[in-house]
Amino acid sequence: MAQQATRTIEREFVEEFDGSRQRAMAAIEIFPAGITHDVRFAKPFPIYCTRAEGAYKWDVDGHQLIDYAMGHGALIAGHNHPEIKAVVAEQLERGTHLGASTDYELAWGDWVQRLVPSAERLKFTSSGTESTLLGMRLARAYTGREKIMKFTGHFHGWQDYALPGEKPPFDVHNVPGVPKGTVDSVVVAPVNDLEFVDQRLSEGDVAAVILEPSGASYTTIPLPEGFLKELRALTEKHDTLLIFDEVITGFRWAPGGAQERFDVLPDITTMAKIVAGGLPGGCVAGKRAIFDMLEIKDDPEWNALKRIGHPGTYNANPLSAVAGAKCLEIVSDPAVQRHSDDMAARFRAGANDVLVSNDIPGFVYGEASVFHIMLGETCDNMTSGDLRMPEGVDPAKLKAGPAGPLEVALNSGMLIEGAHLFHGGGLLSMKHTAEDIDKTIEGFKRTVLRMRDEGMFES
Ligand SMILES: Cc1ncc(COP(=O)(O)O)c(C=O)c1O
Repeated sequence: MAQQATRTIEREFVEEFDGSRQRAMAAIEIFPAGITHDVRFAKPFPIYCTRAEGAYKWDVDGHQLIDYAMGHGALIAGHNHPEIKAVVAEQLERGTHLGASTDYELAWGDWVQRLVPSAERLKFTSSGTESTLLGMRLARAYTGREKIMKFTGHFHGWQDYALPGEKPPFDVHNVPGVPKGTVDSVVVAPVNDLEFVDQRLSEGDVAAVILEPSGASYTTIPLPEGFLKELRALTEKHDTLLIFDEVITGFRWAPGGAQERFDVLPDITTMAKIVAGGLPGGCVAGKRAIFDMLEIKDDPEWNALKRIGHPGTYNANPLSAVAGAKCLEIVSDPAVQRHSDDMAARFRAGANDVLVSNDIPGFVYGEASVFHIMLGETCDNMTSGDLRMPEGVDPAKLKAGPAGPLEVALNSGMLIEGAHLFHGGGLLSMKHTAEDIDKTIEGFKRTVLRMRDEGMFES
C-alpha cells in the first residue's frame, strides 16, 4: 500500500506495537526509566511479551518474534525445553524451598564438576553478580591481597567492585553510590593491554585478574589470538589468581565453557545463566585450596576470623537445581554448541554480505554462538562473510554499539521484521533453524535498506 511505503520505521513501529507502547507509558509511573533491567531499555519504548517456545516469543500485540535475547543468554536449550519444563513441574509438587540439603543440589553440583574442567569444588549462588562478588572475595582472602584487576568494558554484574571502567568513557572510574575506597581497590586495566597487566601485577598487591574469556561483553571487544594463554602465564608469573567470568561463555563456548574451548584453566570460574537452566541461579567454582576458605572447621578462631561465610536463602533452591541439572545434561552434548555456533556464523556471514553488497557502513561480528551488529562504522578488515574480530575500531565504540537513531531504527526495524535483537546483537540456541536465520537476514536487509532510504547513513 502506498501509505505503508511512506511510513518511517519509527512510525510503523509505534503503530504496530501499540500494546507495548501503552504498557510502557504505565511502566514509567512504577519503575524508574520504565524498565526492570537496564538492558531492556529501548526507544521509543521496549516491547512487552507474553509467552515463548523454542526460538520464538510472542508480544502483547500478537507478533511472533524470533528471539535473539534468549533469556539474556540463559536459554541455549531454547524456551520451555520440554525436559526442563517437566522436572520443574515435578519439583513444584514437591516444594520450592525445603530449608535443607537436597539430592537436587548434589546432582546439579555433580554436573558442574563433570563439565567445567577447573571445577574441583564449587558453591551455588543466586545470580552472576553474586558469583563475581564471591569469586573476588575468595581471591582476596586466599591471597591476602586487597586489589582486583579488571579490564575496561568487561561486564561482571552490578556489584560495587565490578563497575569501575565497565562503561565508556573508560578512563572515568568513579561510580555513583560506590565508596571511593572500593573504587580504589579495583585496578582498571586498559582492555587487552598485557603490558599494563605485567607491569601492574609486578607491584605484588593484586589478588586476582578477572575477565570475560570471550572479550568484553561476550565479544563486543574481542580478545586478540592467544591472549588468554599469555594472561594465564602472566598471572602465574606474579602469583596472582585468574578468574574467568563465564556467566555467558559457560556451557555456551563449549560444554565446559571458554576454558575448554581455549584450553586455558583459571583458578576461579564464575557462572550463571545457562548453569541454572533458565531459572535464577549462579555458581562459583575453582581450585580446592581456594575453596577451603569456605570450610567450617573445629576451630572457633578460624570460623570467626578467617573463614569466608556463605549464606543466601535461595542458594541451590530446588527449582533452580533441577532445572540446572537437566539443562547441563542437555548441553553436555557438544552438538548443542556446534549448532548454535553454526547459526550465529550463518547470520554474521549473511548480514555482512548484505552490508557489503549494498555498500552500507557497518559490520556484524562475534564468536561462538553470538553476534553483534555495528552500523555507521567501518572496520579495516571488512569483507563479506563471517567476521570474528573487527580491526581498527575504537573499543569504546564497539562496546557502545550503534548509537542514537541508528540503534533505535535497527531494533525497531528488526522487530517489524519479526526478530527481537538483544542490545543490537544476539545469542543463539539449539532451537534456531537455518530458516529462522535466513528470514532474519532478509529482515536485516529490508531494515538497513529502509534506514538508507531514510537518510540514516549520510554523514
Ligand atoms: C559476563 C557476565 N558476568 C556477570 C553477569 C551478571 O549476572 P546476573 O545478571 O545474573 O547478575 C552478567 C550478566 O549478563 C554477565 O554477562
